[in-house]
Amino acid sequence: MIIENVSRISEVDPRLYGSFVEHMGRAVYGGIYQPNHPTANEAGFRQDVMKLVKELNVPLVRYPGGNFLSGYNWEDGIGPVEKRPKKLDLAWRTIEPNEVGLHEFAKWAEETQTEINMAVNLGTRGIDAARNLVEYCNFEGGTYWSDLRKENGQEKPFEIKTWCLGNEMDGPWQIGHKTADEYGRLAEETAKAMKLVDESIELVLCGSSHSHMPTFGDWELTVLDHAYEQIDYLSLHQYYGNHKNDLKYYLARSLDMDEFINGVVAICDAIKAKKHSKKTINLSFDEWNIWYHSNEQDQKIKPWQIAPPLLEDVYNFEDALLLGCLLITLLKHADRVKIACLAQLVNVIAPIMTDEKGEAWKQTIFYPFAQVSNYGRGQVLRPIIESETYATEDFEQVPYLESISVINEEASELVIFAVNRGEEEMDFTIQTNGIDITGITEFSELSGFDIKQENTQGNQSVSPKQSNAYELNGQQLLVKLTPLSWNMIRCT
Ligand code: AHR
Repeated sequence: MIIENVSRISEVDPRLYGSFVEHMGRAVYGGIYQPNHPTANEAGFRQDVMKLVKELNVPLVRYPGGNFLSGYNWEDGIGPVEKRPKKLDLAWRTIEPNEVGLHEFAKWAEETQTEINMAVNLGTRGIDAARNLVEYCNFEGGTYWSDLRKENGQEKPFEIKTWCLGNEMDGPWQIGHKTADEYGRLAEETAKAMKLVDESIELVLCGSSHSHMPTFGDWELTVLDHAYEQIDYLSLHQYYGNHKNDLKYYLARSLDMDEFINGVVAICDAIKAKKHSKKTINLSFDEWNIWYHSNEQDQKIKPWQIAPPLLEDVYNFEDALLLGCLLITLLKHADRVKIACLAQLVNVIAPIMTDEKGEAWKQTIFYPFAQVSNYGRGQVLRPIIESETYATEDFEQVPYLESISVINEEASELVIFAVNRGEEEMDFTIQTNGIDITGITEFSELSGFDIKQENTQGNQSVSPKQSNAYELNGQQLLVKLTPLSWNMIRCT
């Protein structure tokens, strides 16, 4: 296996390592927020969770949904907590107590050193509620909404830069689901009004809820045709699962993500050409992850509870390998994918789990995400990869080696991420044309576990270990990749 790093794809936008907190399940209540937990701070936020979020180094968190968004009134989450209404959340058939709203979440985000990627409800609501929210969050003062923010304890504007125009509006399950024309027009006019309030904001238009939606393609073409000049990013969502229990097929799902991104880029550029526009629309992959372990269990949850345990996938080792492949795929597209949100962050299809009394703990997928988020910063190098391949029912050539390198000039570091999809040890030769490698600071591998091995609160056995299976010869690095492994090699 050879990888040759020749030219640069792009600088990584740090927002590529974003995540997502939705008001659903135990993401907020019992997740980031639990006033009676021994580690809770004065505001009720769990500091054990905050510590792990900081370890993930997440620069941006999408909020407050998700499907929840499409029935949410943001005004229910401001003002004195004791006066806030309890409401039905029709998306997840639960009760939303509104103890946490905009101010509380902004406080949490500040303490966790992350920014908010705010979403406006275009399901049951529209232009008016959206432009009021921008005014409430970002306008200096002297108007009804900005002064109300001050009254509610926030003198300075929240300065929220990135905004999503609704959520999965193509999905028939969505509250206020729309046709592409209906959504395209509403998004265009909402975007216009929001940018009139604050022209510095960036807006994300809803693309398809997944690559196999029956309206995929037509949806993107139509909504972009309407809103192209008003928006900055088009969204993609995609979740994977090993429903077939077929490891080879499962680990090839990152090729599906790759195809999806290529397709959406082509559509954005087709509309650009059609409109003779000077503007390029980039992508926001604002929901991506593995989601399938909890499907059956979720059918048994009784409706109308506060914070029931929804979508609590417990991840195993093969999930961590796929997550690594998906991260590498996002990096390969760093020239066009500027924002991505691992969905989600805590308890709900999440890298971090909590229980009511104990310490928060790390799922298997925590590790590849944390490593790429912390060390995949800088310029992505365009690799030429030679690798043997295998075939699946939908891809003729799945390379055994998945890899990408990122050069961080500030830290004088070249970082190589690699997955060995195969069940044999792999000799991996890295040829870095024009870049001298003088030493290895760290060679970390996640390998040697049963593919179904999970981490649970009491057993955190799936975690990386150090390897010294390498040889360095000038611009050539020879590495042994253990069978079925996720690897990070940091070179000076
Ligand atoms: O992340 C869970 C759900 O997945 C979100 O609420 C929705 O947007 C998507 O279908």
